[in-house]
Amino acid sequence: MLYKGSVFEFVPLIIKQKKKSEVLKDYSTLIKEILPLRFKGKEKYLAYVGTYGCQQNFADSEKISGLLKKSGFSLTKEKSIADLIVFNTCAIRTHAENRVFGNLGIVKKIKEYNKNLVVVVCGCMPQQDRVLKTMKESFPFVNLVLGTNYLKKFLELLYEVISNKNAKITNNKLLDDSTTEILEDVPTERTGKVKASVPIMYGCDNFCSYCIVPYVRGRERSREPDKIASEVRKLIDDNYREILLLGQNVNSYGKNLKENVNFAQLLKRLDTIPGEYWIRFMTSHPKDITKDLINVIADSKHIPEYLHLPVQSGNDHILSKMNRKYKVSEYLETIDYIKSKIPNVCISSDIIVGFPNETEEEFLNTIDLIKKVRYISLYTFIYSRRSGTLAAKIEDKVPYEEKVRRLNYLIDVQNEIVSEIFRSYVGTVQKVLVESKSYEPNVLLARTGGNIVVKALSDDSRKDLIGKFLNVKINESTRTHLVGSIT
Ligand code: 5AD
Ligand code: SF4
Repeated sequence: MLYKGSVFEFVPLIIKQKKKSEVLKDYSTLIKEILPLRFKGKEKYLAYVGTYGCQQNFADSEKISGLLKKSGFSLTKEKSIADLIVFNTCAIRTHAENRVFGNLGIVKKIKEYNKNLVVVVCGCMPQQDRVLKTMKESFPFVNLVLGTNYLKKFLELLYEVISNKNAKITNNKLLDDSTTEILEDVPTERTGKVKASVPIMYGCDNFCSYCIVPYVRGRERSREPDKIASEVRKLIDDNYREILLLGQNVNSYGKNLKENVNFAQLLKRLDTIPGEYWIRFMTSHPKDITKDLINVIADSKHIPEYLHLPVQSGNDHILSKMNRKYKVSEYLETIDYIKSKIPNVCISSDIIVGFPNETEEEFLNTIDLIKKVRYISLYTFIYSRRSGTLAAKIEDKVPYEEKVRRLNYLIDVQNEIVSEIFRSYVGTVQKVLVESKSYEPNVLLARTGGNIVVKALSDDSRKDLIGKFLNVKINESTRTHLVGSIT
């Protein structure tokens, strides 16, 4: 959507008058050429990329950063000195949106002393008309507003706003043919050296009644298995030791591909890649998890004993209102099967408390469930009303303070469970992957296959252990991590 009007005015640009062959010229080269004109007298052109929300957004931001570097920008972590600020936004809860609006308020101040600053807002928030309206009214200085399927157009539109100071462009077309196709081989500026994310599919078809994702990220589409396999292989060759496969619901991977392939088959194929590494994945929808998939995990060489299987609620009535399409009993059967097949498996989950009109009894069913499953970690959320979703239409009688009380109680119960589980690790030897050095002296930060944080005591000379798999004897446990010594 291109806004015409006094504030968001789309100015006809020089590029439109260029010959087609020139327009098709690589936009990163075009941007490189105009940077000295736009940012006169600068030695370096600094870009700040701020990311909000899920792992998928962080993976997208690595691509944005890659494209920016290719176009002549250097990356900075400091907004105030940047020539270009990109916010890659999240719409999942009100809180995430408010953080972006708050930061745009800061950018407004920066723009007062740096009028030449280029500001881009992209990702899930601008897919909503309500947000576009707020942006237009409160943050008219934003130069480029893009939705979720923007990568193909990113450099082209960025070129337009850099080459024309007055250009204000909004383009959040989601289901436009030119943007739903998956873009391969985008330069990626990886933030880590040990762990790397690999998106395997985009979008979501599940329409859980509380969730905005299907509306802002569009329909499910999977990447070709060959492309995924070659990316994973390359990462392992480049010494990455943990690959995180990403999708809103990885269990429905492959449905729209020509090749007949499902997620279990994809994992089996990736597991054959030689090397020492772990493969993790998220997120699995419980309605789509198959015994076949669990068996592949159990028999694999590289998939550790961990599964994120969000239940959301422990009550059948709430689950049906959430449109989750499974019952508590079915979920628990799946958990039993997982535990029977994968020894010492660690399971984590997402829980929403305070779904509209959730009763105390229904909430207590969730408490019962977490006591039965004994999750290794929980991502807990208070229900956040997302306009446009089905749940947003329900008139909710539960006061917010009550929801906060339930959340705090849930967290207390879970903390108790985790402390008990962690205590049971004391005295054992765990295989861990060393991820980084802690800010504490002589401490390396590592994780077990079950995704538990381990502080491994070491001396400073052991920097070279980052990215290595080690055995650690666990001596101590706290509520948040284990402490051990390298054996
Ligand atoms: N309110 C609260 N939590 C939500 N989630 C998704 N939508 C909402 C919402 N409207 C949570 C779910 C999901 C996780 C990624 O975010 O638990 O699994
Ligand atoms: Fe949202 Fe449900 Fe899709 Fe997850 S599966 S992204 S919670 S709609």
